[in-house]
Amino acid sequence: MDNTLIDKVKLLEDKYAQMGQDLHSYLDGLLLSNYLTYWDYIQVDTLLTLQNPKTDYPDEVIFIMYHQITELYFKLSLHELNQIANNGKEILPNGKDNGWKEKIDAKFLTERITRVNRYFESLTKSFEIMVDGMEKEQFLRYRMALLPASGFQSAQYRMIEICSTDFINLVDKDVRVNFENKNASIEELFENIYWNKGATEIATGKKTLTLKQFENKYGQKFIDLANEYKTKNVWQKYLSLTKEEQEHQPLINALKQLDVNVNINWPLMHYKSAVRYLQQNTQDIAATGGTNWQKYLPPRFQKRIFYPTIWTEEEKADWGKGWVETNVFKVH
Ligand code: HEM
Repeated sequence: MDNTLIDKVKLLEDKYAQMGQDLHSYLDGLLLSNYLTYWDYIQVDTLLTLQNPKTDYPDEVIFIMYHQITELYFKLSLHELNQIANNGKEILPNGKDNGWKEKIDAKFLTERITRVNRYFESLTKSFEIMVDGMEKEQFLRYRMALLPASGFQSAQYRMIEICSTDFINLVDKDVRVNFENKNASIEELFENIYWNKGATEIATGKKTLTLKQFENKYGQKFIDLANEYKTKNVWQKYLSLTKEEQEHQPLINALKQLDVNVNINWPLMHYKSAVRYLQQNTQDIAATGGTNWQKYLPPRFQKRIFYPTIWTEEEKADWGKGWVETNVFKVH
């Protein structure tokens, strides 16, 4: 037996001894256990049982799977945001972790935000699958069997927002000034969250069933998360860096890119799909429970901005404008 192997066995012996375990028994287990397979590790069989259309229209499965793909990317984004919040856990080669870092640095923050940017850029690029990849006639039919469900009810999407910025920035822009510098509680702010506007019936001004169900299931969870992230959302982590680190240009660029990806580029591609399927001769197709999505979805109306202080007044005033004009309405 070569020496490196003997050294490894000694290390293993130490590892198990520390827990009062006997290495011999574990080695017996290793001799008996099967080799790992791809399908077990990735859980392919389970994954492929999760697509269950409500109708017989073949394109419905594209709609389901693309939402699932999106939710997985959202989960990856939350995985990064969670590490930013908790100062990144490092796993050492012996399988132990070194506990939490005391503080993250500009390099760590830049790298993790860049990962989230990559996930969102991948989603924005692939959104063509929704925009052009389904027959409109099929979509309009099977969509009616899905009411009142809507992507609006994606909890992970809202969690990404809560983890990325101070909660005040998610308050509806028209009433936000009433809460600024007032030390309002998360509960108060949540009453005025921007997304309420997207789920209000045009005719009655009442909350839609889509929103009521969403609030019942996730309202308290969002409030708890927002309270937890008050001091550890991305912006707060940025502010915890030294002045010098805050001026690190790649970090500022990554923050700006995150703002653009989450609050302009993805929403605009998504809006483009709503225009393609739901807008006919300037009249809405009532496939979404009667919400005023045309006045709600475009980023230039919502003006959701995670990091307002890193943008100029002009940039904020033009939020989302250029893109929508050239890409959605083909104005040049
Ligand atoms: C053909 C494809 C799609 C169409 C036509 C569409 C349409 C809409 C509409 C009209 C709304 C406004 C709320 C409502 O009336 O229900 C909405 C909201 C939303 N959808 Fe989609 N959607 C599509 C695909 C997706 C996908 C793939 C996702 C990924 C999870 C998604 C996530 C969302 C989210 C997060 C909102 C809330 C946006 C906000 O509050 O600003 N949608 N969608």
